[in-house]
Amino acid sequence: MSAPISATASAAAPAQAGRRQILVTSALPYANGQIHIGHMVEYIQTDIWVRALRMHGHEVYYVGADDTHGTPVMLRAEKEGITPKALIDRVWTEHKRDFDSFGISFDNYYSTDAEENRILCEKIYGSLKEAGFIDARDIEQAYDPVKEMFLPDRFIKGECPKCGAKDQYGDNCEVCGSTYLPTELINPYSVVSGATPIKKTSTHYFFRLSDPRCEDFLRTWVSGLAQPEATNKMREWLGDKGDAKLADWDISRDAPYFGFEIPGAPGKYFYVWVDAPVGYYASFKKLADERGIDFDAWVAPDSKAEQYHFIGKDILYFHTLFWPAMLQFSGHRTPTNVFAHGFLTVDGAKMSKSRGTFITAQSVIDTGINPEWLRYYFAAKLNNTMEDIDLNLEDFQARVNSDLVGKYVNIASRAAGFLIKRFDGRVQDSAMHHPLVTQLRTAMPNLAALFESREYGRALRTTMELADAVNHYVDAAKPWDQAKDPANSVALHETCSVSLEAFRLLSLALKPVLPKLIESVEAFLGIAPLVWADAAKPLSSEQPINAYKHLTTRVDPLQIQALLAANRESLQPGQEGAAAASSAAQATKKAKSKEPEAEGVIAIDDFAKIDLRIAKIVDCKAVEGSDKLLQLTLDVGEDNTRNVFSGIKAAYQPQDLIGKLTVMVANLAPRKMKFGLSEGMVLAASAADEKAEPGLYILEPHSGAKPGMRVK
Ligand code: MSP
Ligand code: ZN
Repeated sequence: MSAPISATASAAAPAQAGRRQILVTSALPYANGQIHIGHMVEYIQTDIWVRALRMHGHEVYYVGADDTHGTPVMLRAEKEGITPKALIDRVWTEHKRDFDSFGISFDNYYSTDAEENRILCEKIYGSLKEAGFIDARDIEQAYDPVKEMFLPDRFIKGECPKCGAKDQYGDNCEVCGSTYLPTELINPYSVVSGATPIKKTSTHYFFRLSDPRCEDFLRTWVSGLAQPEATNKMREWLGDKGDAKLADWDISRDAPYFGFEIPGAPGKYFYVWVDAPVGYYASFKKLADERGIDFDAWVAPDSKAEQYHFIGKDILYFHTLFWPAMLQFSGHRTPTNVFAHGFLTVDGAKMSKSRGTFITAQSVIDTGINPEWLRYYFAAKLNNTMEDIDLNLEDFQARVNSDLVGKYVNIASRAAGFLIKRFDGRVQDSAMHHPLVTQLRTAMPNLAALFESREYGRALRTTMELADAVNHYVDAAKPWDQAKDPANSVALHETCSVSLEAFRLLSLALKPVLPKLIESVEAFLGIAPLVWADAAKPLSSEQPINAYKHLTTRVDPLQIQALLAANRESLQPGQEGAAAASSAAQATKKAKSKEPEAEGVIAIDDFAKIDLRIAKIVDCKAVEGSDKLLQLTLDVGEDNTRNVFSGIKAAYQPQDLIGKLTVMVANLAPRKMKFGLSEGMVLAASAADEKAEPGLYILEPHSGAKPGMRVK
């Protein structure tokens, strides 16, 4: 096979000299939860890289998918009374919406529950089996005799064998921090049915990672890893030569399981971590079929294409041991590299639901925070190591306001006015060779290289230093003074032209990070979409710029407040996430309070925190542009009325509510919505399954109640 496979790899775009073929992935998010800003660190990191490489004109494909299979999705669907398919379809739509809002430019976003994936899994498994890498073995496991299913560790709870804390998971205690085996738990119970687990034997299939061929291959492959920390981890896992440290990997699960059945093994399913990475290929296969890309050539052992996986440090093991070995011994190329990043903390601590720092992507959008600000902030903090990164909310506001608004956008707003008013919007061509412009232009290849080496923080620091230099230049030239005397017209023209060309170059440098903002810059400057090669193509007097429209706004502290409030809300009973809230903080609280609290039960002081009050609806209007909301003006016995948006439009005509009394939560943190500030919440009743039994009924007190009365 010496034919130049890559030359025919894409029918749509024949290979050009120096044009690389690059397949890029981000880890596939689980389909049983919402996308939060911790996830977003990874998708933003990958997206910036992908955009920076596309700007060189390379043939880059960025694919992703939802990771849909496994026990949690199966059980959650059951709990919601829907099929797993219905659940994963709904979650896919939510995830896709979040990625689109954050400008994550997937070429294809797919699902692991796809036919392409089933076929690829079966093929890979078949090849591994044929090559002697699959073993069948009987193992004993915890089993729920009531629910009639085997129990993964996370589905067994009990008392900690060390400190006696109740309701601890099978692997570690969140109260005292000790680790142990699930079998060591005292009074263990199944989280699914509450039954005491029993031991049961069943046949499982194993991928023989202990095969010397695997060890040999991985020892060689590890030397190509980009990150020393990852290489060290790998060496630790591999141990010394001949150590036989790698254990065989259990790749099957028994029914009931939501996943792909293993061919020739009825009732046995591929473990989710088998079909998840294969899902990268399934997503690419789907894209390849749509676009006429030669999939087989890209994934063949002698492929000329490059293949990179961006992941979090927690899933390194799967991507540097199992996945390369699966590929190698099933007749595929192996990853060119795996890039792992650290974990996001918020204000120095692990994201927490009770503090409101478990921030969902959706809540960012709802509070009107521009997702590109977060892209900028994360990028400013990212480098190519596995260090954790922190989102400090105060620093976030300061940084965005000072860098993006104060330093960068400011340059354009200062120069554009004069250029349009005095010079017909046209630059002075001779100014395009000014030393400052040359300095910026020569910095561009270095900046592109910093993006490629994933040193985004350094790239942005350099960019802001250049922006500082431009601002100093403008401050020294004083265009506002130059404009006072017509004799200085040429000098003024030069100042504005140098500033604008510098602004164009800064925009080029920021484009991978702020794609949407730079799109408006391109429209303003009247230029084609910027690519790296445009560093050498300055603005020209032949193409006048367009009127300056403001490009971005500052972060409003109110938005940050609203963001925290929106995420704190999700702790209310019945809301998404509340059931899963087993944070260390909660566990500690439980252990300290003397009475054991049953699941979902709150203490009287928890209830007392909610300020419920009788409210009179003094006005009610439909909200233009919303098919869910009504805008209520409420009298709660205070000096001023409250403005509240409520999702009850489907159930009520505005005029029918005016004059009525209802109950509101008066101490909910105000929430900034698209339509204005909402200063509370009115209470309404609805069925648990609103789809099956629609209807929404706001609460109304018996007669005699007055606005402002407390509800206790
Ligand atoms: N489904 C698996 C990945 C399968 S890849 C074949 C998974 N899903 S996940 O939803 O838990 O995480 C998706 C990615 O987000 C992972 O790379 C994970 O490391 C990353 N992050 C999840 N929480 C994170 C932070 N708080 N901070 C940074 N990255 C985080 O793992
Ligand atoms: Zn303990």
